[in-house]
Order: sequence, then structure tokens, then C-alpha cells
Amino acid sequence: MANFTENDVLAIGCDHGGYELKNAIISHLVDRGIAYKDFGCFDGAAVDYPEIALKVTDAITSGECKLGILVCGTGIGMSLAANKVNGIRAAACSEQFSAKYTRLHNDSNVLCLGGRVIGPGVANEMVDLFIDTDFEGGRHQRRVDMVMAIEKK
Ligand code: RB5
Repeated sequence: MANFTENDVLAIGCDHGGYELKNAIISHLVDRGIAYKDFGCFDGAAVDYPEIALKVTDAITSGECKLGILVCGTGIGMSLAANKVNGIRAAACSEQFSAKYTRLHNDSNVLCLGGRVIGPGVANEMVDLFIDTDFEGGRHQRRVDMVMAIEKK
């Protein structure tokens, strides 16, 4: 699939466990000139992560946004919720190699990060790799197709 272009919009959301890291990522997106839509939360008050995951994934499956970033305390709850949505391939990652290879091999469209796991330096490098890396296709397309076929069972 074609990579993220200047015409594409990135969806981003968090719960209270990811609020500070989400703000750091948004600053980085602004510095890079990347268009984004923020689906909350908009302060540090407790919020249920599945609600935010659904807003971000709806924006992707509707075509409004191309890729998404979800941040909670660990990245795991967001990834569990996001992967329940047809068409979503969400990857919870904690380092750069995985953020790159989940685009290359899995064509992931949502990156899930843990605000209580990693700092903004690592997170923003991961965001860059996720946005800038193309899906490799080929033998990986067949495997991604097999994963997506599970949704239709
Ligand atoms: C909230 O305390 C926390 O459970 C949430 O941010 C996330 O880590 C869930 O997976």
C-alpha cells in the first residue's frame, strides 16, 4: 500500500495513561508538518480506552484518516480494542525495530504506544518509522490477506 503522503491525515488518540506522551507526539507531528486529527482525550482525567480506540479506528475505516496512533498506559489495551475492528491491524510496540517492521511486513495501520513504558524520544522515532515506512507486499501480502480473512469467518 502506498505510504503516508502529504495529502493524508493521521488519527491520534489516548487515554489518561497516554495523555502526556500523546501531547509530545503531537508536537512532533506539528514540527514535521504532518496533518493529524486528535480524537482525545483532551486532559488527564480518566477515560475508557476502548472509546478512544473506536473513534480513531472509525476514522481509518471510513477513509478519513490513513494511519493511526493510540496511546494508553501500556499500548496493549488500545491494541486489543483496535484489533476488534474490521480492517484494522494495530501493533503495540515499544521500540523502533518493531515500529518499522510492522509497516514493512504486517501493513499495520495503527501504532499503539505505552505512555508508561517509553519516553518521547523513542516514541517519536517510532512514529517517524511508522509513518515513513512502506509495506513491502510480496509474500507478506499473502500473509496479511490470511490474517484479514479471519475477520470474515
Ligand atoms: C489505565 O490505567 C490503563 O489501564 C490503560 O491506560 C492501559 O494501560 C490499558 O491497557
